[in-house]
Amino acid sequence: MRRPFIAGNWKMNKTPSEARELVGELKDMVSDVDDVDMAVCPTFVAVPAVVDELEDSDIMVGAQNMYWKDSGSFTGEVSPQMLTDLDLEHVIIGHSERREYFHETDREVNMKVRKALEKGLKPIVCVGESLEEREEGRTEEKVAFQVWSALSGVADEDIPEVTIAYEPLWAIGTGESASPEEAASTIDSIRDIVEDISPGAEEKIRIQYGGSVKPHNIEDFISRTTIDGALVGGASLTAESFAGVIKKCQ
Ligand code: G3P
Repeated sequence: MRRPFIAGNWKMNKTPSEARELVGELKDMVSDVDDVDMAVCPTFVAVPAVVDELEDSDIMVGAQNMYWKDSGSFTGEVSPQMLTDLDLEHVIIGHSERREYFHETDREVNMKVRKALEKGLKPIVCVGESLEEREEGRTEEKVAFQVWSALSGVADEDIPEVTIAYEPLWAIGTGESASPEEAASTIDSIRDIVEDISPGAEEKIRIQYGGSVKPHNIEDFISRTTIDGALVGGASLTAESFAGVIKKCQ
């Protein structure tokens, strides 16, 4: 049985003080939740404040990105050891905004996934099709390629440590989510790919849906047995709405 996993991707929002205040409120609101895995992914600069504030909470902390090198002359980058040193457990890799605005390639996503696992971080790997690709009937082909690339060279025993977030690009930040049927069907196709890569892993790996998830629609997604949770953007930016999403998954 896979535990539901709700993660908040704050993107480039919240100063360190705002971040501390948000999780301070959130941890009280979800203190009675014990059957859902919860995580927040602040910006790097807000991570120490959030980790400190959540010391006595079950809410986990993740990063939004990392580099695949251990250390060195890579100005502006953050290594996996810098994240594990702060006790982070998760790292989002290959979000569509990184792929689009920062030209992150499938090869780089794969290098980051492998390095994260090597260092004991659990990657949340984002995949998803554009509106054009969906309209051309290429959704499954696109996400299959992204999943194959991301998991290339990953050891069978590490695959269940990965979470895949299926985020159709046209549903991100638009207020127009995929239908639960569309999300479940694409996620089923992702499970088939994972089975091809590592038979049996499709039963263990968690696959989230992401794209305009709100307290009022999360139940439509989480009620599908193939959907294990959500990667939440806008609705994770207030304690009230993020707690609202989490509580509906209990
Ligand atoms: O990573 C989460 C994301 O891209 C979805 O954002 O604002 O549509 O929930 P949002």
